[in-house]
Amino acid sequence: MGRTLAAAAALAAALPLISAQQIGTPESRPPLDTWKCTHAKGCVKQNTSIVIDAGTHWIHEIDGETSCTTSDGQLDPDLCPDKETCAANCVIDGITDYASHGVETDGGRLTLTQYVEEDGTLTSVSPRVYLVAENEDYEALQLLNQELTFDVDVSNLPCGMNGALYLSEMLADGGRSDLNPAGSAYGTGYCDAQCYVSAWVNGEANVDSNGLCCNEMDIWEANSRAAGFTPHPCTYEGGGLYECTSDEECDPSGENTGVCDKWGCGFNPYALGAHDYYGLDLVVDTTKPFTVVTQFLTTDNTTTGALREIRRLYVQDGQVIQNAVVQGGANSITDELCATTSNWFDGFGGLEGMGTAVGNGMVLAMSIWNDAAGNMQWLDGGDAGPCNATEGAPSYIEEHTPDTAVTFSNIRWGDIGATFKSL
Ligand SMILES: *[C@@H]1O[C@H](CO)[C@@H](O)[C@H](O)[C@H]1NC(C)=O
Ligand SMILES: *[C@@H]1O[C@H](CO)[C@@H](O)[C@H](O)[C@H]1NC(C)=O
Ligand SMILES: *[C@@H]1O[C@H](CO)[C@@H](O)[C@H](O)[C@H]1NC(C)=O
Repeated sequence: MGRTLAAAAALAAALPLISAQQIGTPESRPPLDTWKCTHAKGCVKQNTSIVIDAGTHWIHEIDGETSCTTSDGQLDPDLCPDKETCAANCVIDGITDYASHGVETDGGRLTLTQYVEEDGTLTSVSPRVYLVAENEDYEALQLLNQELTFDVDVSNLPCGMNGALYLSEMLADGGRSDLNPAGSAYGTGYCDAQCYVSAWVNGEANVDSNGLCCNEMDIWEANSRAAGFTPHPCTYEGGGLYECTSDEECDPSGENTGVCDKWGCGFNPYALGAHDYYGLDLVVDTTKPFTVVTQFLTTDNTTTGALREIRRLYVQDGQVIQNAVVQGGANSITDELCATTSNWFDGFGGLEGMGTAVGNGMVLAMSIWNDAAGNMQWLDGGDAGPCNATEGAPSYIEEHTPDTAVTFSNIRWGDIGATFKSL
């Protein structure tokens, strides 16, 4: 996985001093309590915090006000003709007022809002944040033969919204390097299975406009009307962030021919036929908070075995609720289910491939977003959910639910059965 902090420091010391993309004003990351749970010791509080994605930060000319990116998110060609010059010219400023970006924490609770109102003007901020460990690297969750659990309040997420909690195989240090001294402490290094192009790759200028790919495990993509969890394995070797460089690898048309399974093998109860399971006043009642448990079971029930099954449980009002039963008896993600619901999953490595990343360690990302291109119909409309084609439009949400928000709390992980209890 990622280079360690010590190795990066040693590398920097061995080289002559060169200018690097400098760290500007300090960051003040909101603390977010999380818990690590074992049968032996119970749940132990971790000294974790969150950081908002580097792309939300002000990255600008040193001693100047010119942004190092243009208004459409490209690198400024004068400041950033190549990565070394870009790093020498640019500085990344810290964020101290997370609330102005739609992010608030309180103890173990994180609330993300899509919009922020200032002076009577509503701005779409759509934050994405990552969990940071006490040593300022990302927390790299290793979840084989383990479970990940959190409480969620989706009651204020209408059709078209997505409050997401998921795992991405980013480098634990955010790609910290001599050209990117800020690293994870400033939210660098994002990647996911969609292989999107961004101006920065591991905090360095992405001058070749490569796509940024990595294994992604969507634990939770949901609103009050629909929910799904979806493994997205990739086929490249070695883990971490992979830069795709050709249409064949990056698959810009989205035909699922590249290095990552953009489609994935999703479990959305509604899409799989269980229409009365998840939603307003249904079996999992989204009008009030509930607990989401996700278990990564291996072939030999050890942390080194191959991933064989991803199980889901809910807990609400003290009662454990089994996952919906769909497609002739399945209530979890297995290669058998995926063979009936996806044409590609097996070819991208299937559950065993996903499990390699889950075992190596993945970074926890949380976000809130909506979707002007498709109104999030892939999640909650048509065959996937009860929402009609227009009520998920961002303009409709902005007008009717400008305070839309998701709250994730009491995030905990550890031994199977150690993170939750029923009354
Ligand atoms: C969190 O920080 C406190 C105070 O420094 C320390 O006593 C405790 O051991 C830390 N917790 C963990 C899990 O490292
Ligand atoms: C793993 O645990 C399950 C119960 O959760 C059990 O049915 C199975 O036999 C175990 N497999 C092995 C190889 O120990
Ligand atoms: C879609 O749903 C919204 C909100 O319930 C409603 O106002 C609108 O008329 C619906 N549109 C159609 C085409 O049914």
